[in-house]
Amino acid sequence: MRSERTIDGPGKIVLSFTVNGTGVEIAVARHKTLLEVLREDLGLTGTKHGCELGECGACTVILDGAPVLACLVPAAACTGARVETVEGMAVGPALHPLQDEFAEAGAAQCGYCTSGMLLAAKNLLESNRDPTRDEIRRALAGNLCRCTGYLQIYEAIERAAARMRGAT
Ligand code: FES
Ligand code: FES
Repeated sequence: MRSERTIDGPGKIVLSFTVNGTGVEIAVARHKTLLEVLREDLGLTGTKHGCELGECGACTVILDGAPVLACLVPAAACTGARVETVEGMAVGPALHPLQDEFAEAGAAQCGYCTSGMLLAAKNLLESNRDPTRDEIRRALAGNLCRCTGYLQIYEAIERAAARMRGAT
């Protein structure tokens, strides 16, 4: 069972968790969501702030191996958790194949949905190396895009999956 530590100061807690493989310990306002802590306290603005209602998917991150909507997760519930954001996808200067293929396919236009799409896709490919178009569609059903019409996104994910399987 996760416990939280409180500190002096109105409504603050010490949050201790792992973000993109790095341990973080930070005092945050108790009421904050994971999305707010990532963006406002840790400066990880790659995770986007969209509807804040759990409807758009722009804030998708990976929490303990599963995609979540960071706008709906209380930061206080993340003590001891492992969080992955879009900032953790590239390795040094090398983009993740999904990032490469999104750029190549024009699957990122305004880019507002892109980090959430990338993380939802990454999570899918970790459990399914060769997803069908329908499986991709279902995995991304909670991620809305106002720009692309989705076709380029699906194609980018299929191409990245093929690259990651060594099929191209
Ligand atoms: S900002 Fe979280 S679902 Fe829209
Ligand atoms: S690229 Fe603009 S919302 Fe998806």
